[in-house]
Amino acid sequence: MEKPVRLQKFLARAGIASRRKAEEYIASGRVKVDGKTITTMGEQIIPGKQKIFFDDKEVVAEEQLIYILLNKPKGYVTTLSDPQGRPIVTSLLQGIKERVFPVGRLDLDTEGALLLTNDGELAQSILHPSYEVFKTYEAEVKGCPSSKTIRTLERGILLENKKTAPATLRIKRKDKRNTVMLIRIHEGRKRQVKKMFEAVGHPVQSLKRLAYGRLELDGLGIGKFRILHQNDIKKIFSNKILYKQKNN
Ligand code: URA
Repeated sequence: MEKPVRLQKFLARAGIASRRKAEEYIASGRVKVDGKTITTMGEQIIPGKQKIFFDDKEVVAEEQLIYILLNKPKGYVTTLSDPQGRPIVTSLLQGIKERVFPVGRLDLDTEGALLLTNDGELAQSILHPSYEVFKTYEAEVKGCPSSKTIRTLERGILLENKKTAPATLRIKRKDKRNTVMLIRIHEGRKRQVKKMFEAVGHPVQSLKRLAYGRLELDGLGIGKFRILHQNDIKKIFSNKILYKQKNN
């Protein structure tokens, strides 16, 4: 059976209004539980068991909130439908009944960590710049960026007339032609990593997101997913450095 939840929280999650506004609606007598008008705060209800009405219209019980980490393969789109008929990421979530949506986007040819949830509030906090959730990417780039170029990218460069926020970069390995870089940013502008490297003359050859905050893929295979728990969610908001900063 579902756990009891405060009436105003239930209304907020069902998308009726913010919690504070929902309290106002309750106080003004617009909310009924099993046919009885409730005007006091603190009323607990059991979703799915009791019928809740707002302005005499039934409010459908919320879904269970769910958080998923998927290792997105290349060739999948992160939109929920695709007019061109390309495969969509949610088709990989076998056995998940909830209607989840991706938190942010990854390009068609980018692989790696993609969070999906039906929790709009959490998605907003991850995407909102004020929370500064860091995302770590592994980017294989053409050539070998010099220490000076790395510092330039770290301090921020102009992209579409707006300076990028401070970033952290490190060289992971290099061969004759390409260099594998780790780059950690907290903004989420469209194609940001590719544009940053392109701007300094080192176009990205392949890109993979390794982590949100300290939440890493941890050996999750490509195309596989796992359901996250509270301690995983905490890791997303932890800004502790994932790797020591040491450049050539
Ligand atoms: N930056 C990019 O350029 N592409 C992505 O998919 C994610 C970040």
